[in-house]
Amino acid sequence: MAIVSRIIGTGSHLPDKVLTNVELSKMVDTTDDWIIDRTGIRERRICKEGETTSVLALQAAENALEAAGITAQDIDQVIVATTTPDSTFPSTATKVQAMLGMDHGFAFDVQAVCSGFIFALSIADNAIRAGQSKRILVIGSEVFSRIIDWTDRTTCVLFGDGAGAVVVEAQEVADDQKVGILSTHLHSDGKLREILYCDGGPGSTATTGHVRMLGREVFRHAVTNLAAVANEALEANGLEAKDLDWLVPHQANKRILDGTAKKLGLREDQVVITLDRHANTSAASIPLALDEAVRDGRIKEGQYVLTEAMGGGLTWGSALIRW
Ligand code: ACO
Repeated sequence: MAIVSRIIGTGSHLPDKVLTNVELSKMVDTTDDWIIDRTGIRERRICKEGETTSVLALQAAENALEAAGITAQDIDQVIVATTTPDSTFPSTATKVQAMLGMDHGFAFDVQAVCSGFIFALSIADNAIRAGQSKRILVIGSEVFSRIIDWTDRTTCVLFGDGAGAVVVEAQEVADDQKVGILSTHLHSDGKLREILYCDGGPGSTATTGHVRMLGREVFRHAVTNLAAVANEALEANGLEAKDLDWLVPHQANKRILDGTAKKLGLREDQVVITLDRHANTSAASIPLALDEAVRDGRIKEGQYVLTEAMGGGLTWGSALIRW
């Protein structure tokens, strides 16, 4: 027998306020057509004052717990992947732990920007396989709108706010039963910091700073790294792309999603896309997309689901899941 990690519930939450491309075109020199053509994004959600990363995370977590049919009392670890924590410290995860009414277990944040959810899921999977935890809430939550330079048209059109969550549970299965999180693969290359970073921080400028990006450079690395880390996941599991049912990618740019799917030989209808309505919600984008595809019945038990992401660092990674 072996201990594996299975996702037993998903949840998500989006702020009510919608910001369309047309509205953005009144704020900076851009057009609806340019944004749709270059990115695939039509609109994004933006938090109102007082709506913070922990507030979004709590809603997503409660929805995931409800879907799993358990309560926060059944959880023994909370991981929040975020680049936009409520405070420099303590972690957003400990705040969410308290909001959930938990006075047991432990909680911490993970910072890998847009790859944060994959990194957090990997940590959760390893903790479960090692016997450290039985049920872990893995949350990706971001209020990226607060670190955007709203006068910079090259970045402000790309991002949105939101949160997604999954409940990961330890299950004992036969050694040859391949279910749950089959593998995770993580990478980073700190030398590429300059192509995507925030120009501030608590330990340098004592400000949060704003997102700065060389879009074309990031794009080039994304298509190469994402296809490579997807293939790494398939090879590690003795699978081929044709065995996959779904690709649930980080939602950064429709052209990156199309390029990766094409490199893998996947059909367009196998790729779960929320980018058009959510834009890039960084660490929240994968759990948001997973929740949508689970709730509308696309992702079913027994199917192979590949998730992948790349973000500032650079960081990138993949998780292959048999649902
Ligand atoms: N509206 C109109 N024109 C614009 C806009 C805009 N919003 N933004 C840029 N332009 C202009 C540029 O100024 C440039 O004009 P020029 O030719 O006169 O100099 C022209 O459009 C082309 O600019 P490019 O940057 O070459 O455009 P590109 O086709 O590369 O698209 C984009 C830009 C959408 C940013 C793309 O490069 C991209 O998606 N990159 C990857 C982003 C990404 O994946 N991020 C993921 C990680 S995010 C994270 O980790 C936080």
